[in-house]
Amino acid sequence: MDRTKDSPDVRQTILIIDDEKDVHYSFRRLLEREPLEILSAESGDEGIKMARKSMPDLIVMDIRMGQQSGLDTLKELRQMNPKQVVVMMTAYGTSQTAIEAMKRGAYDYVLKPFDIPQLKDLLFEALAAARAMKQIVAFPTKLNAEETGQTIVGNSPAMQQVYKLIGQVAPTSTTILITGESGTGKELVARAIFQNGSRATKPFIAINCAAIPENLLESELFGHEKGAFTGALAQRIGKFEQCDGGTLFLDEIGDMPMTTQTKILRVLQEGEFSRVGNNQSIKTDVRIIAATNKDLWQAVQRKEFREDLFYRLNVVRVNLPPLRERSTDIPLLVGYFINKFRLKQPTGPSQIADEAMAAIQRSTWPGNVRELENCIQRAMVLASGNTITLANLPEEISRGARATPALNEPPKPVFSAAVPTTESAPATATAAPAPGTDSGKAALAHAVETLFHFARSDKQFKLLPAAERELIVRALAETSGNQVQAAKLLGVTRATLRKRVDKFGIQKRMAID
Ligand SMILES: Nc1ncnc2c1ncn2[C@@H]1O[C@H](COP(=O)(O)OP(=O)(O)OP(=O)(O)O)[C@@H](O)[C@H]1O
Ligand SMILES: [Mg+2]
Repeated sequence: MDRTKDSPDVRQTILIIDDEKDVHYSFRRLLEREPLEILSAESGDEGIKMARKSMPDLIVMDIRMGQQSGLDTLKELRQMNPKQVVVMMTAYGTSQTAIEAMKRGAYDYVLKPFDIPQLKDLLFEALAAARAMKQIVAFPTKLNAEETGQTIVGNSPAMQQVYKLIGQVAPTSTTILITGESGTGKELVARAIFQNGSRATKPFIAINCAAIPENLLESELFGHEKGAFTGALAQRIGKFEQCDGGTLFLDEIGDMPMTTQTKILRVLQEGEFSRVGNNQSIKTDVRIIAATNKDLWQAVQRKEFREDLFYRLNVVRVNLPPLRERSTDIPLLVGYFINKFRLKQPTGPSQIADEAMAAIQRSTWPGNVRELENCIQRAMVLASGNTITLANLPEEISRGARATPALNEPPKPVFSAAVPTTESAPATATAAPAPGTDSGKAALAHAVETLFHFARSDKQFKLLPAAERELIVRALAETSGNQVQAAKLLGVTRATLRKRVDKFGIQKRMAID
């Protein structure tokens, strides 16, 4: 399992609840090198108190603690927070109780004594599931990202369409198909839909259909009965049962085998399924969000994907265009990633040379935003000064080996700043500007230049009021109408902002307190 991919930006917390001191010791040893905070509770009651106080990302709990049943504690924990991810620990021979726990919403269970690599994989998978539910994904029309959040960055018309669609479909329970090349942000969009929908307080579980062996996928999704196939030693509860009322993200659905597709179609049409090895129907109320980087229609033509399922999924389709088709988003993304990595590496570079940005904009980015993100992360580590230069980029990008001919003359970045000319730093740089800094002042100078250019050519253009109004509207939009935050962003007091809002007659619905 690749744990570095999309790794967490914040330290996650695990709470271990077990009455055996040895177990606490083992977990601390097992996870001591991981960037995790580990909390311990020795009884169910103590665990509940701790969970209420610390809101851990993951709880690992013994199913039996002295007289106390872990199942009762689980019930209380899930009532407190229906999205709490809980992994139960159980001894051999008590798997029926473990199954009961899964029916009550446990994420999974592990058998004691532990198979260490398997346990570690499960813990990281559960932590990723918790992160997917918790980490806020904001998009520009609804900027509410908390400190730990992620933002879908991009202002291109194509991305604006995407935000609009997310806003429209999120509150419904409609099935959604998200398409787009690898690394275009499909998972991010799936989480944004979940978080902005009516099921946001219920679980969100992601299944990567391509990563699970064909013969195990059905049992993962629908569960199985004991003895349903060789190796089915006990009954297992599938994700459709576990996730009842919530959202199931079927990632890489283009890789789903035909037989499983038939069963998904049944869920979509009739809202029911059966466990493998049992004909009994089970009702389920799960919202499906599917994603794929394959051309599903072509797969239908090749008879690899069911046509009826395609139509069912394709009712609402969110298509994420490849990065090379929205190169105007690239400077924004670069600035976002620089700022993001500076949180982890505060002494890292804060700006990028214009020629480096130009090379980035010329590149075709087959790995899309993920590849760009990795490229910036790498460049920040390699850069020696305050500026990312051409030399810090991979050769195929700096030399233009992957450049698109159409993009040979990329638009000049909006913010251009003079930086001290050293051997490694070129004459100009595009910065993630901060007010008061040299690059901030230079960015302002550049913007002023552009505005005067317009003012000279258009006599109707009332420069000062127009610019002031535009800045206020923008600040309010960016803070979802929060005047305190908008005033802070603009560097004025709230009273001053209020006066301006009144003076310009900016719509009150934008300027909410
Ligand atoms: N518009 C965006 N703004 C900010 N970050 C983005 C954007 N799009 C993608 N990313 C980041 O790029 C990485 C890849 O995104 P994601 O995993 O959502 O892609 P994907 O389309 O699901 O890719 P794959 O098909 O390979 O699974 C993630 O780290 C994500 O946070
Ligand atoms: Mg993905």
